[in-house]
This record gives sequence, structure tokens and C-alpha cells, in this order.
Amino acid sequence: MLLTDNAPAHGHHADPAFLNDIIDGLSRSPKATPPVWFYDRRGSELFEAITDLPEYYPTRTETALLAAHGADFAAAIGTGRAVVEFGAGSARKTPHLLRAIAPAAYVPIDISGDFLHASSAELATAFPDLPVLPVVGDFNQPMTLPAAIDDLPRLGFFPGSTIGNMEPDAAVDLLRAMRRLLGDEAKLLIGMDRIKDRDRLIAAYDDAQGVKAAFNMNLITRINRELDGDLPIDGFAHRALWNDAKARIEMHLEAQAPLHFHVAGQCFRMERGETIHTESSHKYGARDERLLLRAGGWEPAMEWLDAEGLFALVLAEAA
Ligand code: AVI
Repeated sequence: MLLTDNAPAHGHHADPAFLNDIIDGLSRSPKATPPVWFYDRRGSELFEAITDLPEYYPTRTETALLAAHGADFAAAIGTGRAVVEFGAGSARKTPHLLRAIAPAAYVPIDISGDFLHASSAELATAFPDLPVLPVVGDFNQPMTLPAAIDDLPRLGFFPGSTIGNMEPDAAVDLLRAMRRLLGDEAKLLIGMDRIKDRDRLIAAYDDAQGVKAAFNMNLITRINRELDGDLPIDGFAHRALWNDAKARIEMHLEAQAPLHFHVAGQCFRMERGETIHTESSHKYGARDERLLLRAGGWEPAMEWLDAEGLFALVLAEAA
């Protein structure tokens, strides 16, 4: 049962928040843009392709954890909650959880309207009796949940280690906002990617087929199309590096020559070798995970890990 709201999908005109973030990010030194803007329709499709890459272990590892531990989730979470997913549900991951805990409603929240509605429709078909209430929005901004779930206890579901794409202070703010949004009875099931061998991490963000490169470069195409930009596509190269001090993979777009380009009438220059830092993907040790959750107002209760210790699923309770 798919119940859609009337929030507008992203249109063809410049989104003022996108314009503002890109102009601000390109004006900084070093240049850095928020990763949320990767996910236009093409970016969301490329991300789906990423999740199938042999080098990209997080999706398949987390999916296997969700498939294997349904009985544990049922015992620890119980039935009849409203599942609020931060991100559009994935046809691979979300059904495992929904089958295990038989929720009373499902509310996926995503910034990409088309992608959200497509994935919601798919889940609604697979779960015909479950009210599916997609919300188009940026969950990093204040938001309200559909009134239909006002009286239900909530389970927040934040898979994929998407929390890792935030700087630690922003991650804590988001966890606190989730805690406020979901209420005192809430639980949170969150995926957190573990620190591991450097080469394995870098390969996951710089695959042999070049899908990561296409994902990173799609931001340039999007800026050119939506913000009247003239960034030269072949003037940039995809770079992925491990920042050990910050325990994170960083993706950059590196200028291959001195560049001069425009966005929305504003002029920018880059030197050869200078980069636009487009994404950080933080990785966690066992204690880091707990520290982060506690700082965000959640008390870790249970945890599931694959045999190699690549990826953790953590269940936490509102503190
Ligand atoms: C969504 N997020 C957790 C992905 C990650 O691994 O940081 C995004 C991504 N970026 C490049 N590949 C995947």
C-alpha cells in the first residue's frame, strides 16, 4: 500500500540549496562539496551499480547480516513498530528487516524524489498490507513524520554506513536529531563500516571498472547541467585516498591541468593537482562506534558482525 505525499520532486530548475552549497564549496580553500549532491537520478543509479561491485564489500556484507539475523531482530525489536528508514529503501536490504519484525508502517525518507517513489512502489508491491509512506526531504534538515505514525513506537533504520559520510560533529548532530524525531521509545538499527586493511578500503572506492570514477564525475555533469556550469569533464580525474589520522576514505576530483571555469556566472580557477574534496567515508573501530552513538543520545544494545569483521550492524536504544 503506497501512500505518497505531495512534496515536489526535484525539478529541472536550479535548486537554491545545491547552488549555494556548490558556490560555497568551490570558494573554499581547499575546495570541498557536500556528498548529498551526488544523488540525482543518474547518481542514484550509479550508486546502485556500486553496490554490486566486487570490490565494494559493504552492501553485500550488510545484506547478509540482515538476512541471517531476522530471528534476533524479531526478539530484540518486536513487531508493530513504524520503521523510519533514513534513505530510500533498497530492494535487497529492507525486505529482510520488514519480514523479520512485521512493522505497522514503513516510512522511507530520501532527497531524490523519483528514486524514492520508485523504490517505495517496489516495496509496497512486495508488502501489500504494509502502509508505505515515503517522505521526500533532506534528513539533515529539521523534518516532520507523517501523522499516521504518531501513535506508533519507532525503529530508525540507517543502513549502509551512510553515517560515515558525515564529519563527526555532524554525525552526532544527526543522531541527536534522529533521537528527537523518533521519540523516547525508539530504537535505531544502524550500519557502521569498520576500519580495515588500507588497500581493501581504497579498492572499494577506486574499482577496476571505473564505476566510482563515473559516480564522482557525475557531480561535474550535474553542476554543468543544473547550475549553468562549464567545468571541463576531461579536466578532472577521480582520486580515492585513505586519511589515517581521520580514519576515513576521501574522494576527490583532481584538476589535470590549470583550469578556469564558471558556475552560475561565477568564475573559478584551479591549479594542476588541486582537488575538490567531494566525499569522506569514515570507518569505525568497535569503541568508536559506541562512543559516537552515545554522544548522539543512543545506548548501544546489540551488535552483529560478519566473520571477517568488515561491517557492523548495531542496535541502539534511545538513551
Ligand atoms: C552511501 N555511502 C555510505 C557510500 C560510502 O561508501 O561512503 C557512498 C559511496 N561513495 C562512494 N562509494 C560509495
